[in-house]
Amino acid sequence: VKLWLFSHLQDSPGNRLLTEEAQRRGHEVRLVRPSELNLTLGKSITERPDLVFTRTGSSAPAAALANLAVLEQTGLRCLNSLAGLRNSRDKTVCYSLLASAGVPIPRTVVVGDWTDTSWLPELKGPPWVVKLSVSTKGQGVCLVESERSLRSVVDALGQQDESTVLVQEFVAEAKGSDIRVVVLGGRARVAARRSAGSKDEFRSNIYLGGRAEMVELNQNMTEIAERATEVVGLDVAGVDLLETSGGYLVVEVNGSPGLTASPRLPSAVMNYLEEVTR
Ligand SMILES: Nc1ncnc2c1ncn2[C@@H]1O[C@H](COP(=O)(O)OP(=O)(O)O)[C@@H](O)[C@H]1O
Ligand SMILES: [Mg+2]
Repeated sequence: VKLWLFSHLQDSPGNRLLTEEAQRRGHEVRLVRPSELNLTLGKSITERPDLVFTRTGSSAPAAALANLAVLEQTGLRCLNSLAGLRNSRDKTVCYSLLASAGVPIPRTVVVGDWTDTSWLPELKGPPWVVKLSVSTKGQGVCLVESERSLRSVVDALGQQDESTVLVQEFVAEAKGSDIRVVVLGGRARVAARRSAGSKDEFRSNIYLGGRAEMVELNQNMTEIAERATEVVGLDVAGVDLLETSGGYLVVEVNGSPGLTASPRLPSAVMNYLEEVTR
């Protein structure tokens, strides 16, 4: 199989793991960075890969997605597709799609106007979680302990052009951990519990020192993760679930999941990519 890894990063643990796994199986892999291509609209690409595997999540520049549009118009098969990546990139878009499909999410308000605070009691804080809608690795997510801080944090973050600001109910029950379910081709295949690296941290991101351990998939996890992935329109997704007594809540649908959360991930992804090209 001839495979392109479409990534804005020169080097990342995930790209390295996938490249090694593909080469071990005798496939030809090329890391293609959006900025290195010369693409003529309406013209096909010579030396076409069988498949383009996109590793362009929310941390990728918007220009990377524009270049993906150009690849798609040449008829190349791209997983994920531009449409799915666009939906997952911005949490406001993603949560809106999930909410309208009836997929459970933490109670969330997109805040624009502080003259009306009638929505605040519904979020049960303090504390509250404030998120930049386009962000990743936990870096745009904060816990805010008072209403006075909430207002100023939302105002400060609201200065960003690319993101809206979300205020979310803090799900304390999750205790700084979540379940990452990786869905490939519509099926949940691998699950890992990620736990925050210290007791003062509520974000479970590996990037912030979180640790992961493999867990068995159960039926509830499987159903909700597969449904969330379908609604957002992704072929490959990392769906993050917060565990509560009332069931799982989807906290993120990631269109370019990291591959280090479970040692089974690189080979599970390669199996799927082989399946698709067969
Ligand atoms: N509403 C919430 N209640 C409790 N924990 C949360 C909530 N939202 C996010 N978290 C924690 O913070 C982490 C990062 O949030 P997430 O929305 O996934 O942003 P990112 O895209 O930066 O990973 C989650 O994996 C989870 O551990
Ligand atoms: Mg996340």
